[in-house]
Amino acid sequence: MSNIDVGAVRRDTPGCGEVNHLNNAGSSLPPQVVVDTVVSYLEEEATVGGYELADRRAEDLAAVYRSVAGVIGANEDEIALLDSATSAWDMAFYSMRFTEGDRILTTTTEYAANFIAYLQVARRTGARIEVVPDSPSGEMDVDALEAMVDERVKLISINHVPTNGGVVNPAAAVGDVAKRAGVPFLLDACQSVGQMPIDVDEIGCDMLSATSRKFLRGPRGVGFLYVRDTMIESLDPISLDLHAATWVAPDRYDIRRDAKRFERWESSPALRLGLAAACDYAADLGLQSAWERLSALAAELRAGLTAVPGVTVHDKGRIRGGIVTFSVAGLTAPQVKAALAERRINVSTSTVASTRIDMEQRGLEEIVRASAHYFNTHDEIDAAVETVARLSPP
Ligand SMILES: Cc1ncc(COP(=O)(O)O)c(C=O)c1O
Repeated sequence: MSNIDVGAVRRDTPGCGEVNHLNNAGSSLPPQVVVDTVVSYLEEEATVGGYELADRRAEDLAAVYRSVAGVIGANEDEIALLDSATSAWDMAFYSMRFTEGDRILTTTTEYAANFIAYLQVARRTGARIEVVPDSPSGEMDVDALEAMVDERVKLISINHVPTNGGVVNPAAAVGDVAKRAGVPFLLDACQSVGQMPIDVDEIGCDMLSATSRKFLRGPRGVGFLYVRDTMIESLDPISLDLHAATWVAPDRYDIRRDAKRFERWESSPALRLGLAAACDYAADLGLQSAWERLSALAAELRAGLTAVPGVTVHDKGRIRGGIVTFSVAGLTAPQVKAALAERRINVSTSTVASTRIDMEQRGLEEIVRASAHYFNTHDEIDAAVETVARLSPP
């Protein structure tokens, strides 16, 4: 399946002894090194002083940018650290300027937070939001995208992997279209970073947002934004503080030239170091190996659930990753989640309000979302299928 030493990664992960965690698309279980990094920093901060410890650990804190850049093939100056994927995405999106008639092209499965931002900007500026249809196999149709591009398109903004299913969108093909058309390309990689190898140059995105807590296995409360170096100075951040800019004269400020212009001064050093530890752990393990194992486990789960009478699996797409979505006849998604939780199997649910365009097109109100990681086992997948099979009407 892959060359991951499953015993070793499970021994590294305290939560593996407690729960069957199939909620890695929500928030994964961190390895011990991430927990130790965060906790030991906080303990030291309590005795040394917050500013004093940050000074003492300045080199380690600067190295966080290298670790984060490493998992997406970027340079450290192209990384901004923020408190969530949404904050990161917002910093990029709201820093762009739109006027009446500008077109924003997006995908059917776009996440609610992003779509709400499009709607707000459309209302303020008269820009238009247009959804590129899916191909028959279920991922974004790149030919349709290409046919829609014209000189009024000011942004192509899609997710790599949506919140509500296994589909992997063809990000590199989209990047190719964007590059040829000279249109900026913003990629929401919140669900893909940590799942699979990602290289911003191969994909050709100009901006990318992601979080620490999902497939990267870092702590909650931290995320990051990548902005291509050639794009940074063309983006006027939606808001600035005294870290993003310097007040150089009573009537003047200078904005930073690197991606830190999108950051805030205040942050949690402990969480940043935890994110770096998670990135280093993922890089050491190998993202190709992670991808091979987690996508194979998810395929096993899909196959198992598909064979259960009364269960409908909803995933679409030619390439499918770790997220598996399904419904059980006669039960609501929260009921299924609660029944699995009784057996210490963690899953989550997703509703139409998170990915409205796609869910309405498919007539779905809510789904159960089980998401596998490389540390899951075949027995855990079997246990989830058996539990669902017992719930399902004969
Ligand atoms: C595809 C996608 N984009 C963005 C987000 C938002 O991430 P955050 O909650 O860190 O802001 C999520 C969260 O589930 C997501 O699934």
